[in-house]
Amino acid sequence: MTDEQPPAPFANYQYEIYLQGMAGKVPETPISYERLKGQAKRKLSLGAYSYVAGAAGSEQTMRSNAEAFRRWQIVPRMLRDVGVRDLGTELFGSALPAPLLLAPVGVQSIVHADGELATARASAATGVPYIHSTAASHSIEEAAEANGDGTRWFQLYWPSDPEVAKSFLDRAEAAGYSAIVVTLDTTLLAWRPRDLEGGYLPFLKGVGVANFFTDPVFRAGLEKPPEEDLQAAVGKWVMAFSNPTISWDKLSFLRDNTELPIILKGILHPDDARLAVEHGMDGVIVSNHGGRQVDGAIGTLDALPAVAENVPDGFPVLLDSGIRSAADAFKAVALGASAVLLGRPYVWALAAGGEEAVARLLKGFLAELDLTLALSGHTSFATVGADVLRRVERPL
Ligand code: FNR
Repeated sequence: MTDEQPPAPFANYQYEIYLQGMAGKVPETPISYERLKGQAKRKLSLGAYSYVAGAAGSEQTMRSNAEAFRRWQIVPRMLRDVGVRDLGTELFGSALPAPLLLAPVGVQSIVHADGELATARASAATGVPYIHSTAASHSIEEAAEANGDGTRWFQLYWPSDPEVAKSFLDRAEAAGYSAIVVTLDTTLLAWRPRDLEGGYLPFLKGVGVANFFTDPVFRAGLEKPPEEDLQAAVGKWVMAFSNPTISWDKLSFLRDNTELPIILKGILHPDDARLAVEHGMDGVIVSNHGGRQVDGAIGTLDALPAVAENVPDGFPVLLDSGIRSAADAFKAVALGASAVLLGRPYVWALAAGGEEAVARLLKGFLAELDLTLALSGHTSFATVGADVLRRVERPL
């Protein structure tokens, strides 16, 4: 017997908010996605706002993501004693408070001075894992320090120079990152009208290149260090970043150069899911990069079921692109996702109020997820399968 009390349900966070309301204090950042985005917009330059809000081409993929979630609706069950609940799950040896992670997002310093450091701290404070982007504005090591004892993964944009790639993998492992996410959908930057209209690409000013500029192998290839010749270093970065020649047979290079689990991000076709398994990968992320790469691509929730069917039982299939609320996360898990990644919502929180606002958003997301689970008649995600949803062709 132990005296240990079970942790308070995530749902109790709403009472904290209401109690503060009794004392005349309301949350400093909005709870609703649209109002949070609005507050962030008011704080950001047009260039930074458009970079986050925008997508590829006509932005139809971004709309398809949202529409796919609306086509599935939850059918709640009653009278099932949901007094004690456990949202926890395990991925690659780490215990997660819920099937939720923070998606890798680059150049976060364009929305808040603390950038990724604020996000990594909010991740540690809430237990929601942090994924550090190759295109981050702080280095692998700085973000690791900010994340402390938190769970963190490293996202690799596979650099064209294999020695730089190897160096990134080594640095991530040394800095306590416990998995590698390889993003496959961005071997070239897509056609993004909002950024093109503003001529806005922060990397060319040396923002979002911290992992490269702090990398000993990358630096050794420069005639002068970036501090002395920024333009030459950025030029070299452009060459290193774009890598359209990667292919399935080259994945063995990554496998040979890291002990960490490797997860492929950007999988949408069931055959690619099968290939990931055949090539010894440890997981996949169903993602279209938030609609930022292929305009007119399939919404991720529409792609998920076929992907999940094409991998062995227990093989992790994560999903992102369009997760805006706990209901979206619930639906993705019901259709076969092991966990979901939150993207733009936390970037808006970061813009609106830094670390505190990201932590508030995550606590709120966990609370809403707990409530969605309970009010739909479940005490854990073990009973949440496709039968808890109904598909409608023409949602309102
Ligand atoms: C991203 N995303 C991304 N993905 C990645 O693997 N590496 C990266 O550096 C970035 N950078 C990035 C910047 C910005 C501003 C956004 C909005 C997105 C994609 C990200 O991981 C995720 O796939 C999407 O954000 C999911 O779409 P939603 O849910 O944000 O619409």
